[in-house]
Amino acid sequence: MCGIVGYVGPVADDKALNVVMEGLARLEYRGYDSAGVALVTDDGVATEKRSGKLENLRSALHTHPLAASRTGIGHTRWATHGGPTDTNAHPHRGGADDKLALIHNGIIENFHALKRGLLAEGADFESETDTEVAAKIVGREFDRTGDLTAAMLAAVAELEGAFTLLAVHADQPGVVVGARRNSPLVVGLGEGENFLGSDVAAFIGHTRQALELGQDQIVTITPDSYSVIGFDGAPAEGKLYEVTWDAAAAEKGGYDTFMEKEIHDQPQAVADTLLGRTDESGALVLDELRISEEQLRAVDKIIVVACGTAAYAGMVAKYAIEHWARLPVEVALAHEFRYADPVVDERTLVVSISQSGETMDTLMAVKHANEMGALTVSICNTHGSTIPRESDAVLYTHAGPEIAVASTKAFLAQITAAYILGLYLAQLRGGSYAEGAQAVMRDLHEIPGKIEELLTRMDRVVEMANFMADTRSVLFLGRNVGFPVAMEGALKLKELAYIHAEGFAAGELKHGPIALIDAGQPVFVIVPAPDTPHELHKKVVSNIQEIRARGARTLVIAHDGDEDVVPFASEVIRIPQCPPLLAPLLAVVPLQVFALHLSTAKGLDVDQPRNLAKSVTVE
Ligand code: F6R
Repeated sequence: MCGIVGYVGPVADDKALNVVMEGLARLEYRGYDSAGVALVTDDGVATEKRSGKLENLRSALHTHPLAASRTGIGHTRWATHGGPTDTNAHPHRGGADDKLALIHNGIIENFHALKRGLLAEGADFESETDTEVAAKIVGREFDRTGDLTAAMLAAVAELEGAFTLLAVHADQPGVVVGARRNSPLVVGLGEGENFLGSDVAAFIGHTRQALELGQDQIVTITPDSYSVIGFDGAPAEGKLYEVTWDAAAAEKGGYDTFMEKEIHDQPQAVADTLLGRTDESGALVLDELRISEEQLRAVDKIIVVACGTAAYAGMVAKYAIEHWARLPVEVALAHEFRYADPVVDERTLVVSISQSGETMDTLMAVKHANEMGALTVSICNTHGSTIPRESDAVLYTHAGPEIAVASTKAFLAQITAAYILGLYLAQLRGGSYAEGAQAVMRDLHEIPGKIEELLTRMDRVVEMANFMADTRSVLFLGRNVGFPVAMEGALKLKELAYIHAEGFAAGELKHGPIALIDAGQPVFVIVPAPDTPHELHKKVVSNIQEIRARGARTLVIAHDGDEDVVPFASEVIRIPQCPPLLAPLLAVVPLQVFALHLSTAKGLDVDQPRNLAKSVTVE
């Protein structure tokens, strides 16, 4: 997830740089590991870009001012391909004499193949990004057609994946062209000036008139016109609307809190984390891992190290990887792993999971694993952070920056990445494991749409949260992959609503926790899919009966069509059907929504709960 701004204004009104920088400041929540601008000046296209926060770019522009301009584009980056360096920062250049500058949000899935082709044509690359490939292609097409819209149209036909692209060209001053596929882009319509942005926050200081673009559309703006075409070249129409949000709400996509926005970002976070990880045949390709297949084949044990929510993602991974790849997986809280005496050798794969990549407990565990000779892989959301740098290899999640302290979209992206790793290991084992892996990947690609649908069904969960604002204790039960979901549901409630909450393995109930159940005790139960092996569904339904008989208020999360739970449920919260091992990606969503709204109902600060920090950099 990156932030994108484009601007074109009247001749002799050279305010492009100011407008673009202001837009970038409002979009910094979308990415802040590097930033850059390109302006079309009388001497061609001038760019400046810097790694780090926008402030670094601002001081570079102060030291080396760019010539005044009325046309510009700007980018604030959250790295996906290539670390957060000056060179990898956008814009990237293309075309004869590098006259084109281009910025990009998203992931170009087929960039390896395209890059090979461009190298064969003699192109030079400076960066490790997928974006530079798009810049070279649009540049090449401009040289052929002499028109930026035509160049963009020809280029998008070659690109696969999710992308928003904005381009300017020295030979067409006063024009900015944008294209979008599965990635956001809106147009802001001003008086004698027009804007493009990842969202309306980019231009809300200047205009409230906006144009929503559809999928697979290209927009061309000049100071006093805009035109839209589809990727098929046919004229298209966007939808005009007036923005009613203020600037703060615009940053949050119109939601009241970042957490709510991030819950709604989850379909995209899962889809983006899946992007580019398979080839045309459906086989997993993890070139980025940079550990040889031979080394991975020799692995005989996996230990996942992580903290908090990330550790629950690890617990989900254990069930899945053991089932798919038949490798033993242990999950250790990073701080416990570090100061215990774990049995680790060079055939142990230690997988750390961290959103921030800076959690000190996890970092120490990774260093310890390195010292003991293990292979270390980091599943991480933040390029250039410390944990991936200390690890032998990294598999990035593509959730975009997570601003709310309580983790939501990072959790789903972590589970997705851990699944990908497990399926890759299964594929390396070959035979029936490999066939199974491809089928699961197909199922995984359906999950983003299912999360989207699930998010439209949350009214009752919100109502429940509102009338439970005075609740003092909530229990959560789950089994198999539902167990870590129960733990995560409880953690969300603790940290957001300051309520006593505990997650249990449902089978453990009768070994003690059932004593906690008395009249009216709310208990969320995460019910496995009816086709879960070992009759687990039946066993959990029995657990619901047991607690209901003791007076519990049973809040049951069950798949569509599961009627067995109905007689024993005080409330049934439905999730779309999906294969049993993938269910955490759906089942946790109502629990996040519940915690968010209970916290709101209590008048608490959802995005910054008390005593917590987003990144815990002390042991
Ligand atoms: C809970 C939460 C924390 C983090 C944990 C690890 O909502 O966000 O439990 O999951 O502190 O943080 P990272 O993933 O940055 O290592």
